[in-house]
Amino acid sequence: MSSSSACVVYSVDDFVGLERVGMLTAHVLDYVVPFVKEGVTTAELDQLCLDEILRNHGVSATLGYNGYPKSTCISVNHVVCHGIPSEKQKLANGDILNIDVTTVLDGWYGDSSRMYVVGQSSPEAMRLIDTAYAALMLAIDLVKPGKYLGDIGHAIQCFVESRKFSVVRDYCGHGIGRVFHDEPAVLHFGRPRTGLRLKPGHVFTIEPMINAGVYQTAVLSDGWTAVTVDGSLSAQFEHTIGVTEDGCRVFTESTRGLPKPPYELS
Ligand code: MF3
Ligand code: CO
Ligand code: CO
Repeated sequence: MSSSSACVVYSVDDFVGLERVGMLTAHVLDYVVPFVKEGVTTAELDQLCLDEILRNHGVSATLGYNGYPKSTCISVNHVVCHGIPSEKQKLANGDILNIDVTTVLDGWYGDSSRMYVVGQSSPEAMRLIDTAYAALMLAIDLVKPGKYLGDIGHAIQCFVESRKFSVVRDYCGHGIGRVFHDEPAVLHFGRPRTGLRLKPGHVFTIEPMINAGVYQTAVLSDGWTAVTVDGSLSAQFEHTIGVTEDGCRVFTESTRGLPKPPYELS
């Protein structure tokens, strides 16, 4: 890798390590699908994820990160991100939740999250989830050398707002690779032809958080849990992506065909 410019440029060899850790992260998000049911606690889901990470010789990047106490973030309903798994939080029919997993393998980081639905939820909640997923996918479709990060943020914002939802401003995607959170900041809103111009070897996450109501968020007194200020539902998907010569590589794609709910298990 080289970092002569502001953002690290990873090599083709580095991409092999990023692919391996991305696959592990995706595997954990696939693995947990059948356990997301009415009555399970978010602490139990967190433990299941950790056990599967360890069985595959990985490490959780979040456990102990800046004092964060758990192996995953699990953000239910109006929680935007950084929900702390808890033995007191039992899932109920109709809940929607984001599970965010970051694993480390051979010193490489892979960060991804997906939405999950407990039983059946409302049509509005499903539309929010579909919009968050589609926003991430249309952003990924734009990633190639010569594009600007502002092009990506602008496309996400236009799409989400056209569906009458809002884009969270307080959290963004980030460079990733040998470290968890790096330059550049990947905003999910903005103006075309602004910000970093992408080059092969740039590696970052895109992780739009979108709200059914206003975009403003607040952090609870635990210092982590971010919620919508109006109590409206929030949804998010995240992938770790590397820029290639002619487009991009999504390192954290589901290996079992489970990109978004409803998850049909075979
Ligand atoms: N995985 C989150 C992200 O997408 C970060 C979680 S940091 C934690 O960047 F400390 F809250 F776990
Ligand atoms: Co991230
Ligand atoms: Co994440």
